[in-house]
Amino acid sequence: MINDLIRATDSVSGDLNELFESLRAKEYPNLDRLSHVYLDYTGGNLYSKWQIQKHVEFLETNIYGNPHSTNPTSLISTKYVEDTRREVLEYFNAGDDYYCVFTSNATQALKIVGESYPFNSKSQFLLLFDNHNSVNGIREYARGKGASFEYCPVYLEDLRIDEEKLQKKLVSARHKQHKLFAYPAQSNVSGVKHDLKWVDIAHENGWDVLLDTAAFVPTNSLDLQTVKPDYLCISFYKIFGYPTGIGALLIRKNAFEKLEKPWFAGGTVSYASVTMPEFFLTDNQERFEEGTVNYLSIPAVRFGIEWIRKIGMHNIQKKLTDQTGYLLNELQKLQHTNGSALVHIFGPADNVQRGSTIIMNFFDKDGGKIDVSEIEQKAKEKNISLRTGCFCNPGIDEITNCITSEELSFFYSSRSDNHYDKIHFLGKMRGAIRISLGLMTNRRDCEKYLDFCREFLA
Ligand SMILES: Cc1ncc(COP(=O)(O)O)c(C=O)c1O
Repeated sequence: MINDLIRATDSVSGDLNELFESLRAKEYPNLDRLSHVYLDYTGGNLYSKWQIQKHVEFLETNIYGNPHSTNPTSLISTKYVEDTRREVLEYFNAGDDYYCVFTSNATQALKIVGESYPFNSKSQFLLLFDNHNSVNGIREYARGKGASFEYCPVYLEDLRIDEEKLQKKLVSARHKQHKLFAYPAQSNVSGVKHDLKWVDIAHENGWDVLLDTAAFVPTNSLDLQTVKPDYLCISFYKIFGYPTGIGALLIRKNAFEKLEKPWFAGGTVSYASVTMPEFFLTDNQERFEEGTVNYLSIPAVRFGIEWIRKIGMHNIQKKLTDQTGYLLNELQKLQHTNGSALVHIFGPADNVQRGSTIIMNFFDKDGGKIDVSEIEQKAKEKNISLRTGCFCNPGIDEITNCITSEELSFFYSSRSDNHYDKIHFLGKMRGAIRISLGLMTNRRDCEKYLDFCREFLA
């Protein structure tokens, strides 16, 4: 049965919706069986039954030992881990230009770059206001080594990069040493796709580039022969739902030696001594794979990649573009009886250069913002999985809620990390509502969300 479905994807000039409906029924039956409206694909994707069956078959058919050895069961594990590594590199068309380091998630990949990048008192770390906290946190490594860091703003109107400012910042740091520019290929909050041209522009100005692709690769192809960041991070569960606990750091080979690993650990050295305080780090990706890799789960990444390949990223994208466009239009039509808008969408309100993640706030008919916790509670009652809050991306929240650094310094001086204290201190509501569409979203999910929104109309 699955093969028929898969074959259908090869000649998909027919009805895409039909194809996705059959996949949903056969491979993701729990969505409809349990009446879930799942709108948190940027949080985590869903896995198919096929992936799980393939992984169970894999586990049932052999004996897998710890890979750090040459015994028979160890060699079997090594083979599968290495096959998967090759598959990942091939999936991103990395050629022979990149190493693939398996990590536990995108955050661990980012941490490796943060702790190993040779920041010093003459270096600069440049970020966007629109970055996940796992990228923001790297500034603490920079600061610890005396480097300076700065943020490039995004516009409130569309949450896109202020290109003039970014260009200036990239050019003006000419005299700095070891410059790292980090930005997301797609925002985990607004869905904005930030232009990949900045990778080349940063390189031309002597920067190393850390591209956060965690929210981009679930719904976009990435060709590393065309875009060549020095470092990029991935969480596989965001692409195909299973396995969790596996991510990757891809390192461009010519940027590999630049990373200075601050310690050594099992698996990362070719030789270490105790009678002499010396060690040799391995000269490939193993240098950053500390301890035992997750050798039972890593092979499941291959099945995930195979699954996405069979469905076709172009098909996923086409379906999502239609659904996102539809929702953006319909949401903006929702009006209270006095004509005021129910929903304010932050970021692009059209379908241009954006993914299928949408953030918004709801307003009552007098223009008062409805507390996101009320929305979350009501969504829960309808079995709708959406997100509210700041989504680990404080920059976007500070922009969309127009919070100034003076206000923040007043808040931080209070030393309270309570969300409601913060609202009280700032006298401003924080947070927004995020929905993210993905692989198995269908028109019914969109309609159910719109019906849910209509309940707030007055
Ligand atoms: C853009 C982006 N970067 C990094 C991360 C961190 O990913 P993880 O929590 O899997 O480490 C996320 C998670 O949502 C993300 O969306």
